[in-house]
Amino acid sequence: MGRRFSIPVKFFGVFFLTMLLVAGAFITTLNSLRRQVSRNEARAVAGQVAAFRSWIAQSGMIWVQTLAPGFHDFLDEQIDAKGGTFYGKNPALATRELAQIAQREDARAFFRVTSDNWRKEENAPDVFEAAAIASFKEDKSLEFVESYEGGMYRYAQPLFLEQGCLPCHGDPKDAPPAVLEKYGSDKAFGYKVGQVRGVVSVTVPSLGLKDVLLSIAKPFSLALLALALVLNIFFIRTVVMRLIELTRNAEAIAAGKLETPLVYTNPSESNDELDHLYHAVNLLKRSLVILFKRVNSQGGKQAEKSS
Ligand code: HEC
Repeated sequence: MGRRFSIPVKFFGVFFLTMLLVAGAFITTLNSLRRQVSRNEARAVAGQVAAFRSWIAQSGMIWVQTLAPGFHDFLDEQIDAKGGTFYGKNPALATRELAQIAQREDARAFFRVTSDNWRKEENAPDVFEAAAIASFKEDKSLEFVESYEGGMYRYAQPLFLEQGCLPCHGDPKDAPPAVLEKYGSDKAFGYKVGQVRGVVSVTVPSLGLKDVLLSIAKPFSLALLALALVLNIFFIRTVVMRLIELTRNAEAIAAGKLETPLVYTNPSESNDELDHLYHAVNLLKRSLVILFKRVNSQGGKQAEKSS
């Protein structure tokens, strides 16, 4: 076996291991925190989208008088008493257009509504969304599905069929003629209230662990770290350095240098075990001094007798 480690080496070993463990716990916490942040962001967006859709579903459709440039799609058309034309937009169509506008404005979050049983080719799910829909169909209590994909955080929450959706997604017999005309009677019909109709899918940029760590490297946190280091150095000085000094002194005394001074606070005024140890060594030293004197004086007397 090799030599045993010195106390400073042991202390720094323990110190760095502790730091590593703390850093590990810290990074794990940060990681779940950054997931939580992205999830909250995505959930807020999904909530808005669901509310928007629900508002339109409750009103049946929204009717607009002018088709904005780039948004020429509509489900139905009506001419009012004054001869003006109104265009009807169903929830999915309006959401699709809202998503397009949001994307144009260079938004942080991207959202869309998709289904495994889609009417519109543009609404077809991608791999993540298709898997999410399958999970929601399997487990009705599942609230969301999430994933990371190429620096993005992806989130999906189920869209259930409500009463207001029935005309256009229930029995084709009840369907507005415009829906049948535009999409036929075989796509996205036959749903019952409560069934999973699809998902609201949201994508937000994910916070990289590097971003999170960089945001933590602020003067205040660094000052706290420096303080932790100073505290450890203080401990080294008051405990470890004194122990080393005592070892040297005790070795000097053992080597016969009885005049070696021992500086410490009297045990009656100190709870520091090192002071007690110093005191004990000091008592040993004093005993040695007395012993030496006795031996010397006896040696002297014997010398006198023999002369
Ligand atoms: C006025 C008729 C109408 C109502 C009401 C309606 N939908 Fe739709 N829905 C459609 C049409 C038409 C589409 C075709 C897609 C498009 O226009 O983008 C569609 C598409 C969808 C899609 C996208 C997938 C696809 O089929 O392309 C989902 C999901 C959906 N609807 C869910 C619902 C839910 C949930 C409700 C009730 C809250 C609802 N819809 C109410 C007519 C309607």
